[in-house]
Amino acid sequence: MEISRRKFFVASAAATAAANARSSNGKRPLIICAANGYRYLDRAFEALHSGADTLDAGLKVVTGPEDDPADDSVGLGGLPNEEGVVELDACCMHGPTRRAGSVGGVRNIKNVSLVAKAVMEHTGHVMLVGEGAERFAVSMGFPRENLLTEHSRKVWTLWRETHSNQDWWGPQVGAPNWTAPESHAERLVKLNEVAANLGIPEDQRADAIHKVLVPPTGTIHCSVVNAAGEISGVTTTSGLAWKIPGRLGDSPIIGAGCYTDADVGSAGATGSGEENIKVAGAHTIVENMRRGMSPQEAGMDTLKRIAHYHKDDQTQLKYVSMIYYILRKDGAYAGVSLWSGGDRKRRFAVHDGEKRYETCAFLFDGNPIEWPPSPNVPW
Ligand code: GLY
Repeated sequence: MEISRRKFFVASAAATAAANARSSNGKRPLIICAANGYRYLDRAFEALHSGADTLDAGLKVVTGPEDDPADDSVGLGGLPNEEGVVELDACCMHGPTRRAGSVGGVRNIKNVSLVAKAVMEHTGHVMLVGEGAERFAVSMGFPRENLLTEHSRKVWTLWRETHSNQDWWGPQVGAPNWTAPESHAERLVKLNEVAANLGIPEDQRADAIHKVLVPPTGTIHCSVVNAAGEISGVTTTSGLAWKIPGRLGDSPIIGAGCYTDADVGSAGATGSGEENIKVAGAHTIVENMRRGMSPQEAGMDTLKRIAHYHKDDQTQLKYVSMIYYILRKDGAYAGVSLWSGGDRKRRFAVHDGEKRYETCAFLFDGNPIEWPPSPNVPW
């Protein structure tokens, strides 16, 4: 887990070299998104090709996972808060008109990315939260529905019945009174037993236990540029699993989870929302590009700021996960991650006429938490 200073600089130098190579190959139109958007890229690219607006194309990507009950990081089936209630966050920025919309802590409405767009188009506000946002969505014709699937309910029950002091009550990572949690191994026997009793199928148990031990932040971001250089971005999430009700992460925060500037480019984030809010990640990246950095340099600089905020202390940073998706107006792009992901490399997805996964450049080699090994998932 520890990384030497030398390895750190080697990893950074390799990442920067790759970034500069990629950045010089800007091509438009182009869509970049988190890996869980891969299967929706074709329909978005087709729409873009047929003249769709860049934000509408991005929404064709992110509404895929929102509608998919099997994706437990977003929309329907998202992992709930500590009370078992799914609360969703989203924001979007429309470059051509320099408008933005955002919703936070929304219950019972699955397509919060579309609700964020509705806030942008139908109100004089930028951000609505909680019950007001839900009532606004219903008034705009969005149906109320139960977002907690049987799968998510069982994983939440597994967490509730087995969690100890490793929850979101207490100090932030790196605060003076913060201490690293006890070994995960001590909880495994009980977790396996309770998971079996809950009827979680054996082939899904490792994944469920992983989500209890290392609460995921899920999320999907998508940025889109068209042939004319118009650019937009959108981010949507069910947020941090088992969060305290009312917690907002970075995804609904314009400038953290997503930021788009028609003159420069667009960026978005998945990962530890609390960390990203503190560095205003997406905004920092876009401003870095405005000052001349390549997309990858801009992202790596922002990751280094997160590391700096933790004094480059690996005992803290191993609990932080962060990926940035970056698109410059000219079509140059990058995906950068705080951690490489070890054997399971952190990836992002791109479509510029050819749909593909690419591996993120990274700051630290390894995984934030190395046990249990994650099972293979379809993206
Ligand atoms: N990045 C999503 C969240 O922290 O809620």
